[in-house]
Amino acid sequence: MPVYQATVSAPVNIACIKYWGKRDTKLILPTNSSLSVTLDQDHLRSTTTSRADASFKQDQLWLNGKVDEIKEGGRLATCISEMKRLRREFEEKNPNEPKVSRVLVPAIMHAHLLQISSFHVHISSVNNFPTAAGLASSAAGFAALVSSLAALYNLPATPSELSLISRQGSGSACRSLFGGFVAWQMGEKADGSDSYAVEVAPREHWPDIHALICVVSDTKKGTSSTSGMQRTVETSPLLQHRIKHVVPERMKAISKAILEKDFDTFARITMQDSNQFHAVALDTDPPIFYMNDVSRSIIALITEYNRASVESGGKIKAAYTYDAGPNAVIYAPKENIKEIVELIYSYFPQTEPFKDPFGLFGAAGPKGKVVDGFNAAVAKPFEAGAVKGLIHTRVGDGPRKLGAEEALLNAEGLPT
Ligand code: DP6
Repeated sequence: MPVYQATVSAPVNIACIKYWGKRDTKLILPTNSSLSVTLDQDHLRSTTTSRADASFKQDQLWLNGKVDEIKEGGRLATCISEMKRLRREFEEKNPNEPKVSRVLVPAIMHAHLLQISSFHVHISSVNNFPTAAGLASSAAGFAALVSSLAALYNLPATPSELSLISRQGSGSACRSLFGGFVAWQMGEKADGSDSYAVEVAPREHWPDIHALICVVSDTKKGTSSTSGMQRTVETSPLLQHRIKHVVPERMKAISKAILEKDFDTFARITMQDSNQFHAVALDTDPPIFYMNDVSRSIIALITEYNRASVESGGKIKAAYTYDAGPNAVIYAPKENIKEIVELIYSYFPQTEPFKDPFGLFGAAGPKGKVVDGFNAAVAKPFEAGAVKGLIHTRVGDGPRKLGAEEALLNAEGLPT
């Protein structure tokens, strides 16, 4: 029997214009459009293998080797059944097109193969970064799930079409179907058919955009994005102002800045939008705090780093942004990352060596240092471990189809 299987990896994305609020919680339709940068899968990725087989008794999913229950009517079940529906439509339209990704099938198998939409699936997914780091893994995870099923089913679907489905797994996951700079157009229709992701520019357009993720230690359990944003929709008057009067203008302005490679404007809007997202969290009743003292100190450091540059006739050199947690993501042109790592080292002693994927430092690694004209009094140095680690990455590509040697299911269809 042939094996019907495909393996795909998908990237993480971090928004510059934040998605926060749903107008439909089941279909996951947002109250505003959003825009993100896709990060490089060489450093952060979710990899997923999907297999369809007539002998499987039920749909099953493993996340990092552990069974993850597919709850009826839940987000996983929705994404899987939507992908099966697309395969069924494909089978009906293409009765003579039996090909399945990378599987050569003898003519005698056609009838069997044409029914793979009716087989149960086994899905195994792993992240190459620790879930405990608090990095948004659901975006990469749902993008990889949907992309691997699309590859398994040999669907001719475009990334925008697939984003309609990954959106129903987790809103931000729709943006991980593309590399580069990606907008999620909120759409207007009640059925969600116009709420999907589009590419603003591919990574080749502006490969100089790098990112430094500061993994901030967090002791308390935070409010999840899903429940937090619902509370904001229900209670925050500021959110209504943001939706109507702020985001539409910012979407236009930041898209233009990206097309013109205008880092100054890109950075100003990114920081303003992160701040407004955390302001609407604070405006929620009861208030939600995602940033902590460490997060706020990093804001102070980047603000002072930019001030010192602008005051001496230069430009804005870095932009911070924070999601629903205390970790900072700092976007900057590659040439500034070395100074930014040294700046973070000056205030946040590191216990783990800096993985230097772009070879910015010699064998000795980074040392704490601030640029000329920097007012060191804007923040106090923290104890070791306050920033647990730094991840240097850059703008990256969209989902990648991988070879059979990278499969995460063994011969029996169980996690490797
Ligand atoms: C702050 O996509 O995790 O990261 O749709 O409920 O799964 P659900 O929420 P999720 O929210 C992401 C919120 C954010 C901003 C963003 O990524 O745009």
